[in-house]
Amino acid sequence: MSTVKSDALVFFGASGDLAKKQIFPALYGMVENSELDVPVIGVAFSQWTLSDLKKRATESIKAARPDADKATLDRLLSLLQYVDGDYAAPATFEALKAAVGDAQHPTHYLAIPPSMFETVIKGLKTVKLNKGARVVVEKPFGRDLASAQELNRVISRAFPEEAVFRIDHYLGKEEIMNLLYFRFANAFLEPVWNRNYIESVQITAAEDFGVQGRGAFYESAGALRDVIENHLFQILALLAMEAPAYRGYAAVQQAKTSVFKAMRPLTPDDLVRGQFEGYRDEAGVDPKSDVETFAAVRVFIDSWRWADVPFYLRAGKAMPVTAVEIFVSFKRPPQALFEDAVSRHHHPNYLRVRLQPNSVIALGARVKVPGEEFVGDKRELVVDTEHPDERPPYERLLTDALDGDRALYSTEDAVEAAWTVVEPVLTQHHRAIPYAAGTWGPEEANDLLIGDDTWRVPVLKED
Ligand code: BG6
Repeated sequence: MSTVKSDALVFFGASGDLAKKQIFPALYGMVENSELDVPVIGVAFSQWTLSDLKKRATESIKAARPDADKATLDRLLSLLQYVDGDYAAPATFEALKAAVGDAQHPTHYLAIPPSMFETVIKGLKTVKLNKGARVVVEKPFGRDLASAQELNRVISRAFPEEAVFRIDHYLGKEEIMNLLYFRFANAFLEPVWNRNYIESVQITAAEDFGVQGRGAFYESAGALRDVIENHLFQILALLAMEAPAYRGYAAVQQAKTSVFKAMRPLTPDDLVRGQFEGYRDEAGVDPKSDVETFAAVRVFIDSWRWADVPFYLRAGKAMPVTAVEIFVSFKRPPQALFEDAVSRHHHPNYLRVRLQPNSVIALGARVKVPGEEFVGDKRELVVDTEHPDERPPYERLLTDALDGDRALYSTEDAVEAAWTVVEPVLTQHHRAIPYAAGTWGPEEANDLLIGDDTWRVPVLKED
C-alpha cells in the first residue's frame, strides 16, 4: 500500500478556513500540474450543497490565483463531490462511503479542529473507510504530551503508522528543504558546525499581523503551541541534526527525532510570554486571557555536538515585520589583534539564513577598510536562493500524501519527543507580559540571552 497512488481524496472541513485559504488553491495547482485526477470529496456540517462547495472553491482559487484559467478550474470543479452531515452521525459516513464508491485507497484529510479527530476516525472505521486508506492530520497534534499520545493511539486503532501523514506545512516549504540540502550537500560547514565554533543560534519567526479573526483558535493554542513547538522546532532540528546515516528520509527523520530527544525540557525561566495590546478585544478571546501571542524560549541540546550552546527561538504576532530568520553566531577569534575587534557587541562571523519572505543565505565576515588604520567593517557573502515559481507547501504535501510519500511528514516519535520538551512549561509559566503591537515583544525576552548576545532584528534587504 505504501506507494500505491490514492484513488480518491476526502477532505473534512470543506467549508472551513483552511480549505478556503490553502486547500482549494493547492488542489487547483495539482490539477494544473496534472497531479490530481481522482474524485475529491468535501465533507462538512454546514447545510451546503455541491454547488455551494463549487462556489467556495471558485472564490478561494480566484483570490489566491488571479491567473487561474477556466479550463483548469472547470476540471477541478468536475472532480468535486460533497457530503454534508454531522461528524458524530453514522449516516454521514454511510453517505461518504457511497460517494467514495469503488475507490480502494482513499486519502482522508482531516482539515478540522483536533477536538473532532477522534469522532471522524471512529466514523471512518465504522464504515471500513480506513481499509487501504491514508489519513492526513493537521497540526496541532494534540495540545500536550498526553493528548498527543492519546491522538496517536486513536489513529493507530484505525490506521497503521505508515498510512498516517502529520502535516507541518513548514516542511513543504522550499526554503526549509534547502536547509537540509545546504547543510549536507556542502562540506565546509561541518568542521565548524558545533560547540567549539558556534556561540549561539537564534531563530525568529515574526508576523506583522494579529490573529486575523482566529481568536478562538488562538485561545486554545498560543504562540508556543502554534509555531514554536512545531514549525520552529523543525527548523531547529534541521540545523542541529547529525548527518543522516544513509540516503533516504527515514534516516533524516531519525536524525531529527534524536535532536528532540536530546533537547533539555524547558523550565519556566527558559520562556518569556507576551501578549499584544488589543488581543483581548478580538472576537472569541477571553477579556482576561493570559494566552501568549509572543513566545521566546532558550533551549539546550544536551548532545556531544551542542552541549551548552544556547538556541533561542521566538515567534510573535503583531511584530514590526513579517520574516523568518536564522542567525548562527560563531565564536570570536581567540585574540583581539585589532583595536576595533574588541567591541563586545559585534559578531564578526555569522551565518544568517532568511527563510521568509524570501530566501537568502549570508555569511558575515569583517574586512579591512582602506586606510592607514587596521579597522574593519562588516560584509556579507550572500547567496540568494529565491525561487519565484516555487510550489506552495500544501500543493507539494497533498501530492505527496496521494502518492504515499511520507518524506515531508512528521512521525509519531518526533511529535511526542517535541511535546516532551515543552511539556513542563505548558502549565507552569510566568504570566504573559503585554507589549505594544508593532514592537518586538516584551523587553523581558532579553533576559533569556546569555552573555552579550542580543536578539537580531531580521534583515529584510541585503546592502
Ligand atoms: C500556522 C499558524 O501553522 O503557520 C499561523 O497556525 C501562522 O498562526 C502560520 O501564521 C505561518 O505560516 P506561513 O506559511 O503562513 O508563514
